[in-house]
Amino acid sequence: MTAPKLTGRVAIVTGGGGDIGRAIAELFVQEGAAVLCADIDGKAAADAAKRLTAAGGRALAVECDVSDSESARSTVATAVRHFGKLHILVNCAAVFPPRKPVTALDGSDWERALAVNVSGCFYMSKHAILEIAKAGGGSIVHVASQLAHVAREGSAAYCTTKAALLGLAKVMALDHAKDGIRVNTLSPGGVATTGMAEQWGGMETAEREWGRAKHPLGRLCRVEEVARGALFLASDDSSCMTGADLLIDGGYTAL
Ligand SMILES: NC(=O)c1ccc[n+]([C@@H]2O[C@H](COP(=O)([O-])OP(=O)(O)OC[C@H]3O[C@@H](n4cnc5c(N)ncnc54)[C@H](O)[C@@H]3O)[C@@H](O)[C@H]2O)c1
Repeated sequence: MTAPKLTGRVAIVTGGGGDIGRAIAELFVQEGAAVLCADIDGKAAADAAKRLTAAGGRALAVECDVSDSESARSTVATAVRHFGKLHILVNCAAVFPPRKPVTALDGSDWERALAVNVSGCFYMSKHAILEIAKAGGGSIVHVASQLAHVAREGSAAYCTTKAALLGLAKVMALDHAKDGIRVNTLSPGGVATTGMAEQWGGMETAEREWGRAKHPLGRLCRVEEVARGALFLASDDSSCMTGADLLIDGGYTAL
């Protein structure tokens, strides 16, 4: 049996009530971390944390809007107050704007995507960095997407926000290497989530029309596969990696 990879570490997972965030939080707890699940959907965050504590893990839920600086600050403060310190931040919260060309996309949808998907990572990082540095260093992961690398029609807002995270991570990596903080992005391809099934009118259609058609491995990624990527980036397994992107996309971008 291999030793747990996150023993004694404290992590915040934003979007911790969502499908991928939940899987990341679960794997981190299994690997010995204490995890704060932060989500704008307070009930989803609470359910996630409850499942983790019921299984014997250390977890806490916070209702938080990552696009609001004060909410982000208070989420970081709660993690430190409750668990004593902070080593890891996974920025997984995101919104998925309606698929429309720029001419038809409402300004409010564009603004909200930038506010949550980009500014949310900025605000959470801004407040977390000070604490991670105090703890002696750690790791920040922005969850981007294969669509940070390639375009999908009708997805100007989503693609723009995810591409922005690659730039944000690189600059943060330079700025905070001296603090012992590594910053990377994790880019999943299409993942078999409830949101994916809803978007395609069922998981079978999603697997056929998106998974098989666009991913050379012939299927959507599983949330556990994405979580293993987050664990790699959060743990010392990636100790010489910063300012980089880890693609877990079933070959989507190789096509
Ligand atoms: N599902 C996929 O196929 C896929 C592919 C590539 C990348 N991703 C990325 O993975 C991440 C998780 O996606 P998912 O499929 O689990 O989606 P999801 O909708 O299940 O989870 C996203 C979570 O973010 C939360 N959230 C939204 N706005 C928020 C805010 N302002 N503050 C705090 N929380 C907020 C939602 O309540 C939700 O629980 C996202 O960053 C997404 O862009 C997903």
